[in-house]
Amino acid sequence: EKYLVIHGPNLNLLGTREPEVYGTVSLQEINEKLRLSADKYGVKLVILQSNSEGEIIDILHQHRDAKGIIINPAAYSHYSIAIHDAIKAINVPTVEVHLSNIYGREEFRRHSVVSPACIGQISGFGYLSYLLALEALMSSDK
Ligand code: DQA
Repeated sequence: EKYLVIHGPNLNLLGTREPEVYGTVSLQEINEKLRLSADKYGVKLVILQSNSEGEIIDILHQHRDAKGIIINPAAYSHYSIAIHDAIKAINVPTVEVHLSNIYGREEFRRHSVVSPACIGQISGFGYLSYLLALEALMSSDK
């Protein structure tokens, strides 16, 4: 069973990027934690990172056979109708993830246009947000 994890723009710099906001754990370390967790569930993860909107949409299309998707659309969360539409189009249960609590930050981060296309959203728990999202997908019957 294949599950897809997509990390959006600037998340390749995690660990050194605004550590007071996003923590000091690198993207590679987050991916390792995700893989350990996936092994326990006995599922396969495809993990990809992209800084470009079109590429994220192509990835969603290419992996529409996935059982579930975890996506941190990063800044695209706040304005990409195209990513919202792609999630709707492929019809795969998708959980939106944010490291920071987007509702406690600047006004422009307090709204996600992607979340209505998702089964749920986890925001504010640092790298744990991703692990909780995987747990949610494993437990959800959506
Ligand atoms: C983020 C929150 C976004 O507002 C921001 O643009 C990011 C990361 C998060 O994981 O907290 O790049 O998605």
